[in-house]
Amino acid sequence: MTPRPPLRIAPSILAADFAALGAECRAVEAAGADWIHVDVMDGHFVPNLTIGPAVARSLRPHVRGTMDVHLMVAPADPWIAPFAEAGAEVLTIHREAGPHVHRSLQAIRAAGMKAGLALNPGTGLDGIEALLDTVDLVCVMTVNPGFGGQAFLRSQLPKIHALRALIGDRPVLVEVDGGVDPTTAPLVAAAGADVLVAGAAIFREGSADRPEGYGRAIRALRAAAEGARAGVAA
Ligand code: DX5
Ligand code: ZN
Repeated sequence: MTPRPPLRIAPSILAADFAALGAECRAVEAAGADWIHVDVMDGHFVPNLTIGPAVARSLRPHVRGTMDVHLMVAPADPWIAPFAEAGAEVLTIHREAGPHVHRSLQAIRAAGMKAGLALNPGTGLDGIEALLDTVDLVCVMTVNPGFGGQAFLRSQLPKIHALRALIGDRPVLVEVDGGVDPTTAPLVAAAGADVLVAGAAIFREGSADRPEGYGRAIRALRAAAEGARAGVAA
């Protein structure tokens, strides 16, 4: 068994102050964030519109660590090059966004980024094993994508567990996105999550001007998840 990778906390800036995104990114990184999670929505694949590559490019100088871009768009392929140019390190597309995800994942790697594959709550693990050598990360959605602040779907926990077993010793991270807070973080960590995305649980606790709450929130998530991980084998 290979050792588990370090736990990463990835604040979702969907819940940040959009008028101060650069300051918000700097504040959560200073407060202990490992990655910055950028939610890109197109008003078609999901019923919301957020930000595009121009904003990601503007944020890049304000992010010292990894920019983790979650594409909730269909089709995804036209946006691979623009987000590579914007400085994304991880680019995640949805399994449900089109018929040729294998090709899209190859294109993401060819563009120099880590390739992520996200699964909606209604999507099972059928066919995922055939993609595991083409991905660096699988993101299990624990809400239906489109909005922050939704309730965590416990029904997804067995899927996280089964995905971790399916991955085995491959160098593939398991990310969990949606409704993660100090109560649900131990559940997903015990099931096998390596990257915890959290929007409301972090950004509702402070602001770029008053970032102490961000530090408390990130420490609470990390402590809750590390405690649960400690008791689980790789
Ligand atoms: C949902 C987004 C999530 C969301 C998480 O469509 O992909 O990243 O911002 O927000 P919380 O943690 O508030 O559920
Ligand atoms: Zn997301």
